[in-house]
Amino acid sequence: MKPTPQDHHSHHHKHPGVILNWARLYDMLVNVLFLGREKAAREHMLDLAKVGRNDKVLDVGCGTGTLALAAVRRVGGSGAVSGIDAAPAMIKRAQRKAQRLKLPVSFQTAAAQELPFADASFSVVLLTLALHHLPDDNRAQALREIHRVLKPGGRLLIVEIGGNRRPGNELAPVTLLHGRRAQSMLDEAVQRANGAGLKTLATGPLGYSALGYVLARKE
Ligand SMILES: C[S@@+](CC[C@H](N)C(=O)[O-])C[C@H]1O[C@@H](n2cnc3c(N)ncnc32)[C@H](O)[C@@H]1O
Repeated sequence: MKPTPQDHHSHHHKHPGVILNWARLYDMLVNVLFLGREKAAREHMLDLAKVGRNDKVLDVGCGTGTLALAAVRRVGGSGAVSGIDAAPAMIKRAQRKAQRLKLPVSFQTAAAQELPFADASFSVVLLTLALHHLPDDNRAQALREIHRVLKPGGRLLIVEIGGNRRPGNELAPVTLLHGRRAQSMLDEAVQRANGAGLKTLATGPLGYSALGYVLARKE
């Protein structure tokens, strides 16, 4: 469900500390999940999605905005990067980071299953570690929305848990955090992308943590 500003407001008054600290804690947690190699992992994601000059990029479920802020450094003045997340606390922190770094990313609170953008607006959509956060019955709709806002020829990069069945991965922090679901998310990501009419270009281990990726294209 899409949180309304009122929801956020009342929540905010009841538990101001919890909400604000969560977004900050999230950044620390992610660094642990990537065993201190988050920066390299983020750049690798952008390499896989072939993010470059002039790209119009949307990061869906952008969290605290780390990937979107790395993307905007690549697209140049004629490109653009937007990020949406359903959690106002995440968006707030993402906006603060953008301000501090003086980087022009447009962050807004919105739900993946109801993207506030016109058809064919983006050349690249990123969906990293966010698919497993969507309720099951919103996932197909979110992928349809991503398909709608992509330009023909545009690319979708999904990063999810799974896809790398090396021994030892059952002890990776990301697997410990997500348990048995960790096995199936990457397969589901491929199916969801194909189900929305996107064609799989490549899939495999990300090479960081126990994560995998799917790169798909809108024909
Ligand atoms: C594990 S975080 C991933 C954040 C970021 N993409 C990253 O790679 O670090 C998952 C995010 O999905 C967001 N989320 C959950 N449900 C959502 C929805 N329906 N629409 C948009 N974002 C959602 C959460 O608020 C959270 O920030």
